[in-house]
Amino acid sequence: MASQLFARKSIDKLISDSERPEHRLKKTLGPWSLTALGIGAIIGSGIFALTGTAAAGEKGDPSFYKAQVLDLFLHFIHHGTFSGVMMYGRPAAGPAIAISFLLVAVACVFAGLCYAELASMIPIAGSAYTYSYATLGELFAWIIGWDLILEYAVSNVAVAVSFGGYFKAQLASFGLNLPDKWSTPVFTPEGWSHSYFNFPAFLIVFVLTVLLVRGVRESSRANNIMVLIKIGAIFLFLIVGGMLVKPANWHPFAPTGFPGIMAGGAIIFFTYIGFDSVSTAAEEAKNPQKDIPFGIIASLIVCTILYIGVAIVLLGMMPYSTFSGAGEASDAPVVYALKHLGANHYFQAAIVIGALMGMISSLLVFQYGQTRIWFAMSRDGLLPKLFSALHPKFKTPHWSTWIAGILVGLPAGFVDIGEAADLSNIGTLFAFLMVSLGVIFLRKTQPDRPRVFKVPLVPLFPIIAVLLCLALMSGLLVVTWLRFFLWLVLGLVIYFFYSCKRSEFAPANLAAGNKG
Ligand code: ALA
Repeated sequence: MASQLFARKSIDKLISDSERPEHRLKKTLGPWSLTALGIGAIIGSGIFALTGTAAAGEKGDPSFYKAQVLDLFLHFIHHGTFSGVMMYGRPAAGPAIAISFLLVAVACVFAGLCYAELASMIPIAGSAYTYSYATLGELFAWIIGWDLILEYAVSNVAVAVSFGGYFKAQLASFGLNLPDKWSTPVFTPEGWSHSYFNFPAFLIVFVLTVLLVRGVRESSRANNIMVLIKIGAIFLFLIVGGMLVKPANWHPFAPTGFPGIMAGGAIIFFTYIGFDSVSTAAEEAKNPQKDIPFGIIASLIVCTILYIGVAIVLLGMMPYSTFSGAGEASDAPVVYALKHLGANHYFQAAIVIGALMGMISSLLVFQYGQTRIWFAMSRDGLLPKLFSALHPKFKTPHWSTWIAGILVGLPAGFVDIGEAADLSNIGTLFAFLMVSLGVIFLRKTQPDRPRVFKVPLVPLFPIIAVLLCLALMSGLLVVTWLRFFLWLVLGLVIYFFYSCKRSEFAPANLAAGNKG
């Protein structure tokens, strides 16, 4: 049993498995399509929904669960006990949220380099899951695969809900009012909202699922166009919003200093989630060894520049404290600031429609990435074979795609964005951490394997990536950590009752393999 838990896939076998005709995916993606895939995933709803809240901070009722883990830790170091911890909510970053964007980008670059090295060595669908199988063994691979559901599916629930909200608001500005009972979240932090279902959030996931089942070529082309539109919309915001900036709003720049910058970073980390999904497309890339690292780094650079621009302009338009509390100012700060300062109506509509496009392409890449991870897990026997069955005509994993559509679409029809973003953040940071450790491990165990792309200064760079991920994780709340642990425990139960018995490393399967 113990040997199975730590059984590692041979990299050569991973590559040869993926080349079996019944599992082979079409290779259609070049470097710019991969960069667009990255940008498509990265710029979603986060920049339009979270920047204001992160800058304004959050005040809540005193509660142990709402304490930041970093605060708890520091309190324990200073006082030797958790009792009396009264820190709650999050300190405001203010306009210095621009610095949070920069710091988080640095963390992502370090982790991104580690992803790029592993993706260039193991150009197989499945991303961090596959890398862990080759480096840390089956149990860790399962944990990561399970954890990635938080990064892909749960974050998409949040983005779909945000899409629904923006879509409804835009229709309303055209004079088309959707009935609230069928177009708003059913469950909110205050309880039942008297709504029955959020159709816009559900429908967008449904439409994208149909598109994905029909094949990556069409979806990738659609993605390229949407990426151009959303970058255009962000530029338009920078120009229109830039003319409404009052420099006085940039003072004080960092109202709570470094704690605010870190707390803001833990929130806006969500806006960067997605660059790693470039590596989930490794098997469909024409030249994965070169193009995957290129796609990851190029998409990160583009997004960082755009995000910092949006942050500086938005926080120059209105005082950061405007974006606190609930309502449009905190949920849709970009639109709120434009509306409030009387920006041209057509420009406003163009920016919102561009933002909606951004959300669609982000949703598309994450739905795509989720199915490819399940595809890989199923190929390894950890999930039912259904998850790697290919559509006879479109050659896409259609069952996985439909299951992901239902798993994301239905909750999106009910829940509020709520803490989905935080849960997604912690899951993603954990995956980054494991990938970074995987690089160090593989350099030791397989030093001679060719690496087309190499992380400089190993182990220093991966260690920096690990430390930065831990720092960001510590900025999250106790309740998020608890949910994360519960999720992992549920995953372990499934592993021990189902997956480990069906894995190709399960004793019965190994024996059958030896006989064959
Ligand atoms: N990075 C994605 C977003 O900002 C998840 O919505």
